[in-house]
Formats: sequence, structure tokens, C-alpha cells
Amino acid sequence: MARRSFVAGNWKMNKTPAEARALALELRQRLAGSAKCDVAVCPTYLCIAAVAEALRGSRIAVGAQNLYWMKSGAYTGEVSGPMLVAAGCQYTIIGHSERRQYFAETDETVNKRLLAALDAKLQIICCVGETKDERLGNVTEQVVKRQLEGALAGLKAEQLAALTLAYEPVWAIGTGLTATPQQAQEVHAFIRGLVRAKFGAAVAEALRIQYGGSVKADNAKDLLSRPDIDGALVGGASLVAGDFEAIVKAAK
Ligand code: PGA
Repeated sequence: MARRSFVAGNWKMNKTPAEARALALELRQRLAGSAKCDVAVCPTYLCIAAVAEALRGSRIAVGAQNLYWMKSGAYTGEVSGPMLVAAGCQYTIIGHSERRQYFAETDETVNKRLLAALDAKLQIICCVGETKDERLGNVTEQVVKRQLEGALAGLKAEQLAALTLAYEPVWAIGTGLTATPQQAQEVHAFIRGLVRAKFGAAVAEALRIQYGGSVKADNAKDLLSRPDIDGALVGGASLVAGDFEAIVKAAK
């Protein structure tokens, strides 16, 4: 079964609502033509409503960058899955390495968020990836396996239909260093093998695995042409409309 490519922009902590709206409108215009892959943008919580409004009826979906697992209540500073859906989100990122690095995200909390996102009927982009020390220490596969098993604990095979995985080597995020297409393909194939062993061949073949980490207009085509790389999670380059457009157009 051919997997449909999926390119998502992670805008991180950038843009005011007015700036986010302007970027969304420009992307809407630039990407109006072909629709051969799925596209989403993930602004800050603050900008979701403005971006969803700007993109309504377009091919570009809106995602959040995180969510909390409780639905509502006394959890100062948090936002829940049902709230994201009500604001216009179809997707949420979970387990981004910046959350793991700076905000004490663990495999266990990734799993709680993932189950809450499923409950809210959000589609999920769940991130895994090793640090530079882990790669140099030859433990990339162990780390990715631990993160994946932690994230997917308790999931049933049919629930993986709502899931996209993103392999993001931490050493490649925002550094200008990209995994070579060969390095990325190897880890993607390893991840798909893990999913096959746990959830079966049909689920593994249907699962989309994005690559993330310094994806740019000039390296996207090579990365995205690899058999197990089904799209990209783009940080820095997703803030520049022309660059994001070029990456979307490089998708198979
Ligand atoms: P980058 O970020 O493209 O700026 O490296 C990717 C990500 O963190 O998702």
C-alpha cells in the first residue's frame, strides 16, 4: 500500500497571532495548486484560532505542539485535547525533543498525552530521536526503541491509524546538521520493523514516519525519496513560506 506523504511545519515559539495569520494566508496561496501530499502547520496555542480561521477550507490542516492529558480543571497554564479540537486543530505534536530536554517530558508523560489525544480524536505526530552522545555511543536503536515502546504502551493496533511518527535526531534539530538520507532511512526502517513486530505488517506498512532535523528546500528531495521516509517535520524552514512550499513540493 502506498503511503501518502505528510509534511508538517512546527512553528515552535515564533509569531504573534497577526504574523501567524499572515504566514498562513501566504502558505494557503502558495500551496493552492497540487495536493499530492498532506500538509499541516503547528503554531503556538495562542495562534491556533487565527491560523485555523485563515486556513479554513484549504488543504492545510492545523496542529498544536503539545497538549495536557486532563480535559479541564485546575491545571494552570495547560491546554486539553478537546480545547484544541474546538479551536480548529486536527493534529498535535507529542514528545518533541525540546519538550523532553527543557520541560521534563518523559516516555510516560508522552504516553499519557498520546492516549488523551486519541481520546480527543486528534491525529498525532509523535517524535522520537537520539542525542549526539547517544549516536556516538552507538545506542541510537536502543533509545528509539525505548521511546517508541514507552509512547505506544497500551495502544491497540487500530489506534495507530491516527498516528504519524517523526524520527528527529536531536543533534540535527536547529543545528544545520542533517542526518544523511542513508542514516535517516536506516532508523526509519528500524522503527517500521519495531512497529511490525508489535502491531503487525499491515499497520507497519500504513504507518507514516516523518524525518525531522534541519530539513531545508535543498535537502528535502533526497531525504523524502527514501523508501521509509514518508514526509518531514520542519522547524526553521517552515517559518519561511517559500522554503516550506519547496519542501512540500519535494514530497513524493
Ligand atoms: P529544524 O526543527 O527543522 O529547525 O531542525 C525540526 C523540529 O524540531 O521539528
